Amino acid sequence: MFDLDRFVQDCTAALDDASPEMATREIVAAAVSDPADLMRAIGEPERGGIYTLHNSDRLTVLNLVWGPEMVLMPHDHRMWASIGIYTGREVNVFWRRGADGLEQLGRKEMSERDANWLGATAIHSVTNPLSRLTGALHVYGGDFFGTPRSEWDAETLEESPYDVAKARRLFDESNQRLDSGQRR
Ligand SMILES: [Fe+2]
Repeated sequence: MFDLDRFVQDCTAALDDASPEMATREIVAAAVSDPADLMRAIGEPERGGIYTLHNSDRLTVLNLVWGPEMVLMPHDHRMWASIGIYTGREVNVFWRRGADGLEQLGRKEMSERDANWLGATAIHSVTNPLSRLTGALHVYGGDFFGTPRSEWDAETLEESPYDVAKARRLFDESNQRLDSGQRR
């Protein structure tokens, strides 16, 4: 049975591993291997949002619920991340800084039970391609909320400091779409 305290303990122990991003990827993969069991512990997604399960200087664990068809512009984290999907689907587009600004590197689609890790310099944009909520377990090797980082405009690809209020607005808008979809 999934136990959040044990999960955080395991991830904390993995911070001392030579490759903590790969070690935590294994822990995340095990957690999302049984989505029903995980959701009994953390709840089934009901609204889009960033739900903090654990936050310290060295480790952040989030339950990230993407709204229907939600798109999050390119951004970085400045710390490694391990991501696992427990319901729905997430499309990641990876980018890098090039001579003429941001360049697309590749694309990776993640479905239920998939887990993946991202290096500290990774830049990605995320789309939920489904008309329902997607739920993902995210583990970060640092203080996700206290670390300054960048985002890039979805259209112009211009870099600016990450705007937490804007991100919250995107989740709010996705929840409004969710509400109007349910009313239809
Ligand atoms: Fe991200």
